[in-house]
Amino acid sequence: MPFSALYRADLNRVADALQIGRDDLFIDLGCGSGGTGIWIAERTGASLVGVDFSAVATENATELAQRRGISKRADFVTADATQTGLSTGIADAVACIEVVMFSDASRVLAEISRLLKPAGRAVVIAAEAITDDAPPIVARDYRPLFADNALEIMTYDALIHYRERVLSLYHAIYDRAEALRTQMGVGADYLVGEAQKWLAREHLPPRTRDIFIVARRASS
Ligand SMILES: C[S@@+](CC[C@H](N)C(=O)[O-])C[C@H]1O[C@@H](n2cnc3c(N)ncnc32)[C@H](O)[C@@H]1O
Repeated sequence: MPFSALYRADLNRVADALQIGRDDLFIDLGCGSGGTGIWIAERTGASLVGVDFSAVATENATELAQRRGISKRADFVTADATQTGLSTGIADAVACIEVVMFSDASRVLAEISRLLKPAGRAVVIAAEAITDDAPPIVARDYRPLFADNALEIMTYDALIHYRERVLSLYHAIYDRAEALRTQMGVGADYLVGEAQKWLAREHLPPRTRDIFIVARRASS
């Protein structure tokens, strides 16, 4: 499963925007436990390399790919999204879903640009600050960072009702905290803590919004 508040329609939109098929390779940067990338690989027939700096996440993703019967065309690498160690220009497309706001966005975009073939597509979904008191790690506008890294923006729009979706996800996590602790152990504490932080601000104006970005790697 993906850990994000994306709907099936959003995932379809990501898969369509990547413009990949059977002969293509796409990279899922910050792949988590693999749900999003594996779903896109199944839908498009493309080969997948997922990258995450959590070894637990890439182990889970490897197991999920085996269970789904696509391990021959799905590899997972434990590495930082800013420095994957993968070869330059290998990717027909890169997806990077809900990752750049946890990292150095400029360096992640530089790595996406390095990995892409000329004219290859990048699809990025990320939180963007809309107030001055937003958490400092969340960028105000990603567009200059794309331009600096030879990524030409084709689509840049806000996901609809994203905050409501996140709040409903965190309500569900908070309400099931005990069941999650039984299932996940101490890992559940982080999720419940995040849920508490979001729910504490539920009645305050939003400080961020989530942006859906499609870009194309410039030819030179
Ligand atoms: C909110 S989850 C999204 C996971 C996945 N993209 C999805 O759609 O389900 C963020 C993921 O990014 C990973 N991550 C964050 N910063 C990273 C970095 N600098 N390098 C690699 N992975 C990173 C985390 O380990 C986590 O798995």
